[in-house]
Amino acid sequence: MMEVEDTSLGFTNRLLNVVAPVTIFVTVAVTSPVLLVWRGVKQLANRPLDMRDKVVVVTGASSGIGMHISYQYAGLGSRLALVARREEKLDAVAEECRRRGAPDVLTVPADLGTQDGCREAVEQAAKHYGRLDCVVLNAGVAHIYKFEEVQETEGFRSIMDVNFWGYVFCAKYALKHLRQTGGQLVVNDSIAEFVPEPNLSIYNASKAAVSQFFETLRLEAGPGIPITIFQPGVVKSEMTDGKVILADGRWSSAEEGRELRKEPGFGLFPVLPTPALAKAAVAAARRKTMRAVIPSWYKSMLFLRLFSPELFMASLSWLFRGDRTPAKAAQDKMGGGFKAPSDADMREGGYRKSEE
Ligand SMILES: NC(=O)c1ccc[n+]([C@@H]2O[C@H](COP(=O)([O-])OP(=O)(O)OC[C@H]3O[C@@H](n4cnc5c(N)ncnc54)[C@H](OP(=O)(O)O)[C@@H]3O)[C@@H](O)[C@H]2O)c1
Repeated sequence: MMEVEDTSLGFTNRLLNVVAPVTIFVTVAVTSPVLLVWRGVKQLANRPLDMRDKVVVVTGASSGIGMHISYQYAGLGSRLALVARREEKLDAVAEECRRRGAPDVLTVPADLGTQDGCREAVEQAAKHYGRLDCVVLNAGVAHIYKFEEVQETEGFRSIMDVNFWGYVFCAKYALKHLRQTGGQLVVNDSIAEFVPEPNLSIYNASKAAVSQFFETLRLEAGPGIPITIFQPGVVKSEMTDGKVILADGRWSSAEEGRELRKEPGFGLFPVLPTPALAKAAVAAARRKTMRAVIPSWYKSMLFLRLFSPELFMASLSWLFRGDRTPAKAAQDKMGGGFKAPSDADMREGGYRKSEE
């Protein structure tokens, strides 16, 4: 006899539909003032971690955010392991780190889009220094295309390989070293985790995956492994200069990068100077802050999304879809506000690999 599918939610679920939100709302309302005071006290009592002589691994250290985070730790007297693919760029960053006060800087050329690359990068750093105190997961790539326009679908995986699996495997190999020192993970996520800006579908998904993975790891690993997830808004870097993967699977040329920045959705938000972002992110990590949205005004978008999803999506649609949007107007106004990377820059490190 065929079983009739039970479509009712059941008594317990129906009860929880009402009881759970009310309980949580009341709990949040009652505890918020206490938590606010507690956070303030904690902020005053908790001295930021002293990073002098601590061993810090930074992935994606050859440019942009990773480069500036390396400079921050260098200024704090940390010993550094800088990881990325472009060796010459890493050497230049290493030199600047030494100049800023890092007592020892190791460069580790590695492709973090592969599991072997992640393992070798972490193990080389651990072997060189004999310990790891902090691992900053930052290496990432982006694309600009509409999902439907993509001709080369292999690129989807390559984005996840670096942005998600690169973080996961580096964390996997780093954890045993961090356990020994009481060290920490610092995760560069993005506001893309909660702002589904068009033309960035796979990128946005990779950032949402990173967020959920490391929140789960936070619970599994417990307080012995502090995890700081920071979520930058738009920050000046090679990526936001227009170095992205295109719908046909190629990396953009400098000229294409310049053109792309005229697209709606690319550059509506104010651009944060990279050193300011790096300083705020490292400050959050040193205080073992669980999550930091930088700058914090982006949190209001998170609230809007939670409490009024219809208005949230309508606002994004108004901002980004079509030709005559505020995003497009902002783009036109900014014109060449960004400096595009040179063609030579674009060719380095296999950035035009798929074309050659
Ligand atoms: N810029 C923003 O507005 C913004 C906002 C939020 C979050 N983020 C995130 O910040 C991180 C850094 O990006 P960015 O903006 O600073 O861009 P960027 O200047 O393009 O830096 C990306 C870094 O990742 C490295 N990288 C890329 N693929 C790699 C691979 N397969 N193996 C090893 N390293 C690799 C690059 O080094 P090589 O090319 O030398 O390998 C470079 O050092 C990314 O995770 C990005 O998603 C950026």
